[in-house]
Amino acid sequence: MRFRTERIIERLNTLASISDSENCIDRVYGTEAHTISGNVLITWMQEAGLKAYRDTIGNIKGELTSSKKGAKHFIIGSHYDTVFDAGKYDGPLGILLGLEVAEYFYENNIPLPFHLNIVAFADEEGARYNTAYLGSSAIAGCFEHEWLERKDDSGISLAEVLKNNACDNSTINNDAFIKENCLGYFEAHIEQGPVLCNEDLPVCLVDGIASQTRINVAWSGVSGHAGTYPMMHRNDAFCASAAFALEVEKIGKDNTDKLVATIGKLNLFPNTPNVIPGKVIHTLDIRSSDDDFLKEVSEILEDRATEIAKERNIDLVWDIKQTNPSVQCDETLKEVLRTSIKNSGIKKIVELPSGAGHDAVMVSKIAPVSMLFIRCKEGISHNPLEYASPEDIEKSLEVCDNFILELKKQYD
Ligand code: HGY
Ligand code: MN
Ligand code: MN
Repeated sequence: MRFRTERIIERLNTLASISDSENCIDRVYGTEAHTISGNVLITWMQEAGLKAYRDTIGNIKGELTSSKKGAKHFIIGSHYDTVFDAGKYDGPLGILLGLEVAEYFYENNIPLPFHLNIVAFADEEGARYNTAYLGSSAIAGCFEHEWLERKDDSGISLAEVLKNNACDNSTINNDAFIKENCLGYFEAHIEQGPVLCNEDLPVCLVDGIASQTRINVAWSGVSGHAGTYPMMHRNDAFCASAAFALEVEKIGKDNTDKLVATIGKLNLFPNTPNVIPGKVIHTLDIRSSDDDFLKEVSEILEDRATEIAKERNIDLVWDIKQTNPSVQCDETLKEVLRTSIKNSGIKKIVELPSGAGHDAVMVSKIAPVSMLFIRCKEGISHNPLEYASPEDIEKSLEVCDNFILELKKQYD
């Protein structure tokens, strides 16, 4: 166990060192670092005895093939893309835990009654195109080809990235797993919140994943001279967006039990100290465990933005990039995971909702899903201070082993 845990930690550090930025972890979809890290994962999967390859969209897929006639697939996965200035555990930890489990069954020649597929998803964060789950949507056969036209901040489209990586984007959905052949999906992921620290528990069950809507909002006013243009006549795009940002914060704070709302990225034009901003484009990320309420909030905020734009004589573009419904984890797999946690000696089993999105959202379209949360220090994530202890990683590995052993018993 100790050796396997140390190998996970070593590999987390290796992946963390593969970045497009000098001084932080930065590995968004389709970049050089993203490609290099995918190649490294293929090598590790091959060393673990898996057939491994990169699919069209860039998912890295490994398979420990079962000799059982008519065997179906059980998938373990997480993502290898990151946000900017990321931590080293968000995504890779789930991949590497799955890889260790596969290697354990391969090395010890323990036959499995299902193909064990380890998948490193290419883009879960959606950091480059503000469209989450590009990788897992292809696995689920629901990649939307209109996403290919989406452009990043430098105007490079997703189609161009795929072309540069010699991918034929018409075949993206051909890489999907067939629903009838999928037994289930499991993802281990850091909690990215403080509950496990407060409960002093290394792991817990996930009972569901919140619904999420991602919107791009553009405010167009008139740029002008900061020194000469009278305050009362300005069409200042930034001030309009700032007034809206306070509304976003207010609706979030008025509904803390069931809503989070974030403006995470903002570009201002011409972004020059002595020019009144003529244009502001920003993201809006809203989430709730209550799908209907989230739809209502989206409409309320759109109306509020429209009013602000009108009051300030600003043009508004409200562009919903993606909306994903909430997802419930499968009760049968939760039972298996509950047993696996108990068998690892943990007495108290807690179940948590996930405010964070995960590839399980997309994979749930083709398979029953289950998730294990792993404690992370002070709940910090999407931050270089993100940390999971070797003890908690070792305990999680034991739970992951137990989980596949339990499934083996069930399907043998
Ligand atoms: O944004 C999220 O919830 C996840 O980190 N992709
Ligand atoms: Mn993640
Ligand atoms: Mn993340």
